[in-house]
Amino acid sequence: MAEAFDFFQAWLKNPLRVAAVVPSGKALAQLITSEISPDTGPVIELGPGSGVFTRALIDRGIRQEDLALIEFGAEFAQALRLSYPRACTLRMDAARLRTADIFEGRPAGAVVSGLPLLTMHPLKSAAILRGAFRKMKPDGAFYQFTYGPRCPVPRKLLTRLGLQAQWIGGTLTNIPPASVYRLSQIQSSH
Ligand SMILES: C[S@@+](CC[C@H](N)C(=O)[O-])C[C@H]1O[C@@H](n2cnc3c(N)ncnc32)[C@H](O)[C@@H]1O
Repeated sequence: MAEAFDFFQAWLKNPLRVAAVVPSGKALAQLITSEISPDTGPVIELGPGSGVFTRALIDRGIRQEDLALIEFGAEFAQALRLSYPRACTLRMDAARLRTADIFEGRPAGAVVSGLPLLTMHPLKSAAILRGAFRKMKPDGAFYQFTYGPRCPVPRKLLTRLGLQAQWIGGTLTNIPPASVYRLSQIQSSH
């Protein structure tokens, strides 16, 4: 309850950045992390907010040391550092991810994103996606949720970045209902 109240306060202060009045629910957290296991390798989380997806990742066996939490909000970043002292929490704009010094240069296996990509400027979304795929292994996957009816990354941008998107599921129990897409690099056949 306190978490929901703090989240709402953060939204009141910055509705565009926080972009949701309540944190995501458990069902969405289960869904967006469903393909991730300790075998995935290090995981980057973008826009963890109050840490709903972070908890789900830890429940799936991801060690704090294998988590990089990239959060722009000072209030969230501070609380994440207290809750996950062994994770690498960076208070920064995810659009600068390319410059972040994480996992001693080891590539990540997945990125989990709670960012409001739909409302972001396309140049910013492009910078975030470029940075994320640069930090991952070639077969790494970027998981993004959306409240909208289609993938929040426009087809044109996906094509320009050599990416494909696949819907992996939806949940009606989230407020509001949400679905999750997996973005991955199109592997060339030669
Ligand atoms: C819709 S909330 C999602 C929070 C959490 N993942 C959840 O699902 O409950 C969006 C989060 O992204 C963060 N955020 C928004 N823009 C950001 C940016 N450019 N860089 C890093 N974090 C950002 C916000 O501060 C907020 O924590």
